[in-house]
Amino acid sequence: MSNPARCVNVADFKALARRQLPRPLFDYIEGGADDEVTCRSNIGAYDRFELVPGFLRDVRNIDLSRKVLGCELSMPLILAPTGMTRLFHPGGELAVASEAARAGVGYALSTMATTSIEAVAGTGRGPRLYQLYLVNDDGVNREMVERARAAGYDALILTVDCIVAGNRERDLRNGLTVPPKLGLGSLSKFAVKPLWCLRYLASPAFDLPNLSSGKGGDVSTLASYFAANMKLSITWDDVARVANWWNGPLAIKGLQATNDVVKAADAGASAVVLSNHGGRQLDFAPAPIDLLADVVDHLGDRIEVLVDGGIHRGSQIAKALAMGARACLVGRSYLYGVAAMGAPGVRRVIELLRQELERTCGLLGCASVDELGREHLRLAGLPPYFLADRDVPSSPSDSETPLRSISR
Ligand code: LAC
Repeated sequence: MSNPARCVNVADFKALARRQLPRPLFDYIEGGADDEVTCRSNIGAYDRFELVPGFLRDVRNIDLSRKVLGCELSMPLILAPTGMTRLFHPGGELAVASEAARAGVGYALSTMATTSIEAVAGTGRGPRLYQLYLVNDDGVNREMVERARAAGYDALILTVDCIVAGNRERDLRNGLTVPPKLGLGSLSKFAVKPLWCLRYLASPAFDLPNLSSGKGGDVSTLASYFAANMKLSITWDDVARVANWWNGPLAIKGLQATNDVVKAADAGASAVVLSNHGGRQLDFAPAPIDLLADVVDHLGDRIEVLVDGGIHRGSQIAKALAMGARACLVGRSYLYGVAAMGAPGVRRVIELLRQELERTCGLLGCASVDELGREHLRLAGLPPYFLADRDVPSSPSDSETPLRSISR
């Protein structure tokens, strides 16, 4: 097994994951909808923000901890819900959940997980969330919520952006089926990774145990699975029903428009995850980091605003926090770690993100994540005060600029 310490950033894990996984599985992680414009802009949007350093402050001890959705986190990071993790490594969700707990960061188990709610809870205490997709059987929906509560999960994340399956052309081209069928058609794409095949064949059969009583017959593509099983029209009435069943900290994931976040706050949600599902649903959806300022300015005192999409560096987490996010979620970043080397890979990815965030805070002159603010951000090519909390030099031309709208 490779030595995790030799990976110095998430990109190194991505390169290893690409080498280890059969192409259809790497593409399933990596791919997005249509032309993958949103996948790229999720990352590119962060590049437009520069970080304005601050020196001559005491930053020997930097406090990264934060309470999010009622959970005490050692840093504002939640490992995002992702489907079918056992396909990438037999350690699967158990490896990811154990490493999250060890590091004191959140772990959100997906409805589409290949490990049960109870088995993940059995890995011991840790900040833990359950991600709910509503399927077309309310009995199953309610049962999942009750199982999560009985197993001691701290918060529920209701994902609302998968009412229609995104058009993931890599999966179509690769003929990806769920579970992967090692039949004649796709065998060649898997057979070139014999280590993966051996591990896969030696591990317990593929299963989606959180949907035990709700999964529909013969699964072929993920799109047809979604079409056959998911509740195709989710409304605010469903949100109210789920909130009532759960009666605890609830996040709604997948909202993007400020108006929708207003409704989420009105519905009593504790948090919202601004997310375009990693660019896997609606191509051309905006990058969440670009939506953050408006949402935080309108609703930051009513609801916790979390963000995901394109995050693979601690410095990006620092940018989101400086803009006003309460916490960030990462999905692909830890999947590369687990695919590359199981639990030690996940551990190293979390460690790298922590080191990068801590280093960035230090270089910005912040002794805690709470000190990160818009004064640390600058839109490339423009003066820093366009994003800042602090007093803005007054000049008639400054106040005309549309960028004023993202000042607090
Ligand atoms: C996906 C679903 C499972 O994006 O969340 O593939």
